[in-house]
Amino acid sequence: MKTMPNTAISRRVVLGGGLAVAGAALLSVRGQAKAPAGLPARTVAAASGEKRVSLVAAERTLRLMGADRPASRVWTYGDAPFDLVRLAQGESLAIEFENQLPEHTSIHWHGLRIPNDQDGVPYITQAPVKPGERHAYSFTPPDTGTFWFHPHCDTAAQLGRGLAGVMIVEGDETRAYDADIAIVLKDWRLDVETGGYLPFTTTRGELRAGTFGTVRTANAEIAPRMELPAGGDVRLRLLNLDSTRVGSVGFEGMEAAIIAIDGNPIAPFPLREWRFGPAMRLDVVVRAPAAGAEGRLMDFFAADPVTLATFVGKGDARKARAFDPAPLSRSSVPEPKLKGADRLSFAFATASGGKAALATSADSGDPLAEAMLDSLCAASKTNWSINGQSWPGGDHSRVPPPLFTLREGRTYVAELTNETPHVHPIHLHGFTFKVIKSTRADLPVHFADTVLLTPNDRITIAFVADRVGAWMVHCHLIEHQETGMMGYIRVV
Ligand code: C2O
Ligand code: CU
Repeated sequence: MKTMPNTAISRRVVLGGGLAVAGAALLSVRGQAKAPAGLPARTVAAASGEKRVSLVAAERTLRLMGADRPASRVWTYGDAPFDLVRLAQGESLAIEFENQLPEHTSIHWHGLRIPNDQDGVPYITQAPVKPGERHAYSFTPPDTGTFWFHPHCDTAAQLGRGLAGVMIVEGDETRAYDADIAIVLKDWRLDVETGGYLPFTTTRGELRAGTFGTVRTANAEIAPRMELPAGGDVRLRLLNLDSTRVGSVGFEGMEAAIIAIDGNPIAPFPLREWRFGPAMRLDVVVRAPAAGAEGRLMDFFAADPVTLATFVGKGDARKARAFDPAPLSRSSVPEPKLKGADRLSFAFATASGGKAALATSADSGDPLAEAMLDSLCAASKTNWSINGQSWPGGDHSRVPPPLFTLREGRTYVAELTNETPHVHPIHLHGFTFKVIKSTRADLPVHFADTVLLTPNDRITIAFVADRVGAWMVHCHLIEHQETGMMGYIRVV
């Protein structure tokens, strides 16, 4: 294991080690200091309205399987897994990033509508951050909600080792909750005897529904028990940061309502089961159990439902009024104007029917051409395609053109068609889209940055292309992304 970076130590000293509670839930209890307990202290307020965050990607050791089981080597951005950055809407972030990993990386800010040059995609929006290098990101997240961040090349391995963080932009609440907890769901491909990793990808998984982890965790613990203020209304921010698993989440023993999808407010409605694919987030309000009683977060997808976390009511019961969660405040995402909108269509398919990546001429000096020289960023195999194009792998001299070129400021209505028998969580960088309808899934109209496209489904989305640049479109099932199901749109 590498030595702890000095920056991490000084950060703790500055902020007080008391804020860091080892292995605890990402818990913020009302009435305490703004910095939530249970988190590594991540932010230092600098000039007013700006937050400085230091993230150091490095290998660290963690006992994912429990205190008495072998430890695993994880890759994280800070001392604790799934570092959490919390800020208020309108605050700007200055992120000082340092790469202490043995390979290059970068940070993509998933779901944030920020300028293209901050989007963190190697070769497309920035150079990779090489081992030992630093990189500064700065932006002002425009929207409230629950977001996350992660690398964008060699993702199966980097995210597979845990390299991901959570970002919460506050300011959407119209009624205070009794607690606010982020719950990161992620499986790990561990050899349970040694704590080492099994191969992150398999040929079988790449061609089908992906390669599943062997150890399921919530906040890097197997089925943790978390205390909630008894009878309180608690905001749980669920994040699926797994590379592969599409679950169906719900609660037992607690009332629950969905209040936001991918961070975007929606009029509260009861949560029974929600198909929850990689990269998706779901904000729910639950009525915490009475003192001593229990409730559970479940994955109902398998024939035998799995308990992901157990919640125990603690303390004096809050006044019991009927469970009636308040809506969050309005989002700041621009509303697409469907009348007169331009149309796009994206067909997600296997590569066999499609042509191999069609190429434009590879001009020298084209950063995309350089990308193809880098094995961490190029597909090793081509299994999947979007509109007949696969994100190129083998031929390093060729570069795909954008899937579409869009005009800045216009509204686009896009049809996403699944021509495969597999589920694909489809993500568009840079824009929060409105999910208008699905031919197969019973989805409410909602805003999202990732939508689950089930077999033979056709989903209609709309968004305002309000920022120029090259924006990735891909499946967030990482083995699909990394074997061809990726492309980009260019907004000019
Ligand atoms: Cu989380 Cu390219 O995305
Ligand atoms: Cu996919």
